[in-house]
Amino acid sequence: MKVISLANQKGGCGKSTIVINLAINLALQKKRVVMFDTDPQKSSYESLQVREDSLFNVVALYSDIYQNLENYEPYYDYALIDTPPHDTEVVTVSVVCSDLVIIPVQDSPLDIRSTKVTVDLINRAKVLNPDLKSYFLLSRIQPQTILAKELAEILESKYEMPILNTQISNRVAYKYSLIYGKGVCEMFNNDAAATEINDLSNEILNILQLDI
Ligand SMILES: Nc1ncnc2c1ncn2[C@@H]1O[C@H](COP(=O)(O)OP(=O)(O)OP(=O)(O)O)[C@@H](O)[C@H]1O
Ligand SMILES: [Mg+2]
Repeated sequence: MKVISLANQKGGCGKSTIVINLAINLALQKKRVVMFDTDPQKSSYESLQVREDSLFNVVALYSDIYQNLENYEPYYDYALIDTPPHDTEVVTVSVVCSDLVIIPVQDSPLDIRSTKVTVDLINRAKVLNPDLKSYFLLSRIQPQTILAKELAEILESKYEMPILNTQISNRVAYKYSLIYGKGVCEMFNNDAAATEINDLSNEILNILQLDI
């Protein structure tokens, strides 16, 4: 089982939105997916309660993360962890237990600066888990602007951490689909948002396959 965390202690950067859409995309590809919501606000867990199917498993979890991952390991291909904005301990444990951590960052210099806390946390986690891979993901960007391109270069060079080629744009589809607990790939199959999530999923699978 591969473990993927979404982490950035800067709130509102799109962690929950991305983790939900990624979980749904992988499940639609017939992967066995369990998603852990470790945020006590339970926003991603609760957003998914309106679903009437069991495409994938969603669990609200605030402690014993390592033990739970061990228990779920035999039954799933992927565990995705949505982490809270402020609880450093939960974020640290989630990241240390992961194969890959994705750090969504919004397209603003202020957000790039406040991501430092999380970059430092991840670098400390790599001492305990040297195999941990980490990538930035530009999130909620304004499409078709040069801002994202310049900020991507700044982000990568400031923190010496790679950035995913895929970028997640600010799109109504991400909000609308969640009214129904759905992902953009289910509700807007041929839409630009679905293309972004497909690209993200493929890029992540490629990164994880490098381990094999
Ligand atoms: N790509 C997007 N396009 C449009 N709206 C988005 C997008 N991503 C997130 N949002 C909206 O931005 C807000 C914050 O998103 P989300 O809850 O996913 O972020 P978060 O990082 O999980 O926040 P928190 O740190 O509070 O847990 C929500 O209202 C969400 O609907
Ligand atoms: Mg969240």
